[in-house]
Amino acid sequence: TGKELKESYRNYFPIGVAVSARTLKDPAQSELILRQFNSITPENAMKMGPIHPEENRYFWRDADSIVAFAQKHNLRVRGHNLCWHEQTPKWLFYDKNGKLVTKEVLLRRLRDHIYNVVGRYKGKIYAWDVVNEAVSDDSTRLLRNSLWYQICGEDFILKAFQYAHEVDPQAILFYNDYNTERPEKRERVYRLLKKLVDAKVPVNAVGLQAHWSFDEPTSNELIATVKKFASLGLKVQITELDISVYPWEKNHRTLRPGEDTSYSPEREQKQADQYDMVFKVFRKYKKYITGVTFWNVSDRYTWLDTYPVEGRKNYPLLFDQNLQPKKAYWRVVNF
Ligand code: G3I
Repeated sequence: TGKELKESYRNYFPIGVAVSARTLKDPAQSELILRQFNSITPENAMKMGPIHPEENRYFWRDADSIVAFAQKHNLRVRGHNLCWHEQTPKWLFYDKNGKLVTKEVLLRRLRDHIYNVVGRYKGKIYAWDVVNEAVSDDSTRLLRNSLWYQICGEDFILKAFQYAHEVDPQAILFYNDYNTERPEKRERVYRLLKKLVDAKVPVNAVGLQAHWSFDEPTSNELIATVKKFASLGLKVQITELDISVYPWEKNHRTLRPGEDTSYSPEREQKQADQYDMVFKVFRKYKKYITGVTFWNVSDRYTWLDTYPVEGRKNYPLLFDQNLQPKKAYWRVVNF
């Protein structure tokens, strides 16, 4: 083959992939990761719940093993993530009587968490997804009505960035979100980021998660998104790229009777065309785009096998279930 992803993009940006400690212990997958990628993101190991399961107890083993792998093989690491409404530990929002904690208590807990986690990997993690998915999907409000918001208002966002910057002033601090190519969501994310930038909050970059489909986004919407956020002086990264072979559905979570779920040649072709298009845009706007990370390694395992439709196998990546390059791979590396 000779045409690895990281080699093809050496003059553009690092090419990353989300991993688990288990993935890295599998010789075939770790060999593919080392051959193709030069950056890794822990898929789950550094989320608040997994790494900080009780108030005064951290679970470092999996995160440490991922960082050790990166150190050994000279890979970049994107830390993910310091503040999110999902995968939060049970204890975080409640006092010992089971009542919601006050804003002061929650912000102190957030500060302790960030100081411990960012401090532990200082100098080994170059970028952090500091706040993940705080903007509402609902067009009637700017921020998601999470417990973070209910208890702190929007202050948890600027505090999270402030704490992370205090601990590691060298780290590149990201706001990370999805569906940022849809005009209304893009506008809301822009409004939040503009408020933060205008208030001199230390946010340096925005992560476009890029959980896309063969038919979304269009080239124009993607270009508009990159330009819009770059206009704030922020760098942009693609942080969780996969391209589903099914259109994005919210309206059903179960397989429809008789639904065709085969990975047909037509589906593979449409996916290859979409990967080709988005990487043309990434290359064209490389002055704003400082990294592209795929969310999983191959079609063997992908979070999309359980979302949005339970039990519907998806085939969203460049490598198939046998870790072999697909049509899309050749379109991405041959340009
Ligand atoms: O590790 C536990 C295991 O001990 C337990 O037995 C099992 C059953 O409850 O759960 C396991 O944790 C699961 C975890 O993945 C590790 O496999 C959680 O239930 C499951 O919810 C979690 O799903 C992850 C999801 O985020 C929620 O954290 C997906 O793997 C991961 O791909 C997905 O990634 C997110 C990004 O972080 C943010 N952007 C969206 C993206 C897709 O949802």
